[in-house]
Amino acid sequence: MPHRPTLTTSAGAPVSDNQNSLSAGPRGPLLMQDYQLLEKLAHQNRERIPERVVHAKGWGAHGSLTVTQDISRYSRAGLFAKVGQKTDLMLRFSTVAGELGAADAERDVRGFAVKFYTDEGNWDLVGNNTPVFFVRDPLKFPDFIHTQKRHPRTNLRSPTAMWDFWSLSPESLHQVTILMSDRGLPVAPMFMNGYGSHTYSMINAKNERFWVKFHFKTQQGHKFHTNAEGGQVIARSRESYQEELFGAIERGQSPRWTMAIQIMPEADAEKTAYNPFDLTKVWPHADYPLIEVGVLELNRNPDNYFAEVEQVAFSPSNVVPGIGFSPDKMLQARIFSYADAHRYRLGTHYEALPVNAPRCPVHHYHKDGAMRFFRNDTGNPDAYYEPNSVNGPAEAPEYREPPLAISGDADRYDHRAGNDDYSQPGNLFRLMTPAERNRLMDNIAEAMQGVPVEIVKRQVGHFYRCDPDYGIGVASRMGLGVTDLPRSLAAE
Ligand code: HEM
Repeated sequence: MPHRPTLTTSAGAPVSDNQNSLSAGPRGPLLMQDYQLLEKLAHQNRERIPERVVHAKGWGAHGSLTVTQDISRYSRAGLFAKVGQKTDLMLRFSTVAGELGAADAERDVRGFAVKFYTDEGNWDLVGNNTPVFFVRDPLKFPDFIHTQKRHPRTNLRSPTAMWDFWSLSPESLHQVTILMSDRGLPVAPMFMNGYGSHTYSMINAKNERFWVKFHFKTQQGHKFHTNAEGGQVIARSRESYQEELFGAIERGQSPRWTMAIQIMPEADAEKTAYNPFDLTKVWPHADYPLIEVGVLELNRNPDNYFAEVEQVAFSPSNVVPGIGFSPDKMLQARIFSYADAHRYRLGTHYEALPVNAPRCPVHHYHKDGAMRFFRNDTGNPDAYYEPNSVNGPAEAPEYREPPLAISGDADRYDHRAGNDDYSQPGNLFRLMTPAERNRLMDNIAEAMQGVPVEIVKRQVGHFYRCDPDYGIGVASRMGLGVTDLPRSLAAE
């Protein structure tokens, strides 16, 4: 018989019997002093934590980024310092709307969140598999998410709410077109791209700022399901992504992505025809071509899903020297939102959990709080405030970013006024093959079933403005004609 470790209580005392509770006589009742039973029941009651309010269903793995090209002229970040440099990372993929138990093969945007454990702190790039988003002002984010979640009365998801909101928010057209296209239902996480989506900044050793967008191109190729195929997959398994990703890594087939950036000189932001900080827009590759950075590889499955995937906490606020924010209003709001969500979902000291803990020294003066369990060595027990004269940790001015010129009166600016929401989704539509366009429009028509006709007409009007074939194609699938379009369009 191989030696088996002795079962203990959580306080470490050996357990003599883990099959029979302690009773007064063989038939019971039970004795209060059976603390082992009480502890097991009490722990079970505390096994669940709140699920993420969005992106609840996810799949994650560990891996690394290896730099293949020198981009140090744009960024002084240590992880890009030299070709060949390798940085450990954790990546969590997710769907947005479904709850923790949702089926994997559902049409939805996918999260693509990476935590790079760099020598200068954790850098979290919390992106999606799409380069744009549904809204451009964070004031609309909670409203948008409400339309994706369950109706308060029916407890069912509501296509009417989704299309009502989208048809009243034309800035969503670009993302809706991607969501309803083949990209909206990848076969598994390794068959899709990742995008940082927002514009961020890079700062080089000369303290020059560049605007940057991050891309991760799948090396496995794009593979997608049609809605019908997705339905068949779900009938067989609700966990198809977990099976595919976990299985591939267990078999040693490490999925890879090519990391690339688009770089815009700081001054160009004043010149582009579009606002480069608008999350509903892409930067044309002809103007800002992709520059290769390195290879991202996933090669190790988590040992404990809950500890490493459910408790991993990403936040766009986590940047490192050489990588910074931009004026993008959505990014600005996310800098607040994520750490706040983590303090609620995981607790004050979520960053000390092993999966979230930086792999570099951490010195701060935050004090106490629930579950304070970690060392935070400031080098001297008297150094618990700052400034101090006991050589406690102090700021390092060499990490200051160059000043950012900002102008304008404080006001609530109408982000829809004069904004072209139609050209880019129209261009995307025109890039698609006839078969891709047909699948896109079929998916839209399927998703619109049961939606009141006024909402359908309003939305079809937006598709028409993107491209007449797009509007007419969806209209005809919904049993509408050109005369059903808003009058101003039908006359065009
Ligand atoms: C998750 C808020 C926009 C990607 C979350 C969570 C919150 C949130 C509260 C749950 C965090 C947690 O409990 O761990 C917001 C707000 C947004 C916004 C307020 C806009 C103002 C976006 C955008 C993207 C994005 C534009 C992608 C470009 C993600 C991803 C996750 C997530 C990938 C899951 C991260 C993980 O795997 O743990 N978001 N979000 N979100 N969000 Fe957002």
